[in-house]
Amino acid sequence: MKADILVLPGDGIGPEVTAAAVVVLEHIASKASHSFTFHEGFIGGAALTAGLEPLPAETLSCARGADAILLGAVGDPAFDQRPPGERPESALLQLRRALGLYANLRPARMWPGLEQAGPLKPEVLAGTDVMVVRELTGGLYYGEPRGIAADGQSAVNTLRYSVMEVARVAHWAFKLARGRQRRVVSVDKANVLEVSRLWRQTVTAVAAEYPDVRLTHEYVDAAAMKLALAPSSFDVLLTENMFGDILSDEAGALCGSLGLLPSASLGDGPGLFEPVHGSAPSIAGQNRANPIGAILSAAMLLEHGLGLSEEAAHVVRAVGAVLKTSARTADLANAGQPITGTREFGRLVVDRL
Ligand code: IPM
Ligand code: MN
Repeated sequence: MKADILVLPGDGIGPEVTAAAVVVLEHIASKASHSFTFHEGFIGGAALTAGLEPLPAETLSCARGADAILLGAVGDPAFDQRPPGERPESALLQLRRALGLYANLRPARMWPGLEQAGPLKPEVLAGTDVMVVRELTGGLYYGEPRGIAADGQSAVNTLRYSVMEVARVAHWAFKLARGRQRRVVSVDKANVLEVSRLWRQTVTAVAAEYPDVRLTHEYVDAAAMKLALAPSSFDVLLTENMFGDILSDEAGALCGSLGLLPSASLGDGPGLFEPVHGSAPSIAGQNRANPIGAILSAAMLLEHGLGLSEEAAHVVRAVGAVLKTSARTADLANAGQPITGTREFGRLVVDRL
């Protein structure tokens, strides 16, 4: 197969982790005789530093024309003082919205070998395999009106969801559940918020089309608690935008490190694949970042972006095999354990492929 892949390294550790993921994709392409063409674009702080907008028009047009997009991270403290719309992060929000990427898949699982890496007792973590399905183009992130009042004494953001927005992401959750344990937990705050009541009603209505999938509802505070107390009780966790942002970081930390988590943002346009972690400026450029989130995002790109499920499974297996050895990036290493660098860890994964 031929595929055109746009790589947006972005800020901080983004360039290092995407480089490791591209090496994996190149290896897959050569082994399976696929022809992948990689283009690079500016985004976020890297674009601002080059004198461009956070999401340059050229990056957006390349994104629209690509078969899939691999992104590193955006966020740069140099631009922290700017208003939200001019910050590096705004590029990502614009890109998600412009491409209609409303369904964000964030799988988190217990990896054999990493039982001790996170804060949970191994017996609590055992068997954890949760797919967070986060609505990505609505809710508080995009609602209007928004802004700080002229006198600086108040500010507003708007939480709004339409039935259509809830239903289309709910369909993703139920369809994914069919390939898993057929259980969906829908997260809301229906005891307080009208938007959550609409969310709950809509998800319940969609569930009628999937009688083979069991739907339950949880308030977000209880869901956050259950995730820490009994993470293995979840299969698919369906959430609105902001709740999903929070719960997916929690899921990552519980499984050992946020650095492990990949994501796929899917919808109308070409898919966007990026690790869940941020730009981690404090370790940027030191070959200390964990490339697993980016490498597993490349696996999701193969599966969901290009339909290459078999190749994707190879990549996931290779990561699993390396994690069964003693190789550990800085975020996963125990005190005194030798640290494997970003590039070296990437190479270990390629060696297993
Ligand atoms: C994420 C990030 C982004 C988000 C930021 C960088 C805008 O935290 O992808 O989880 O909040 O969606
Ligand atoms: Mn986040």
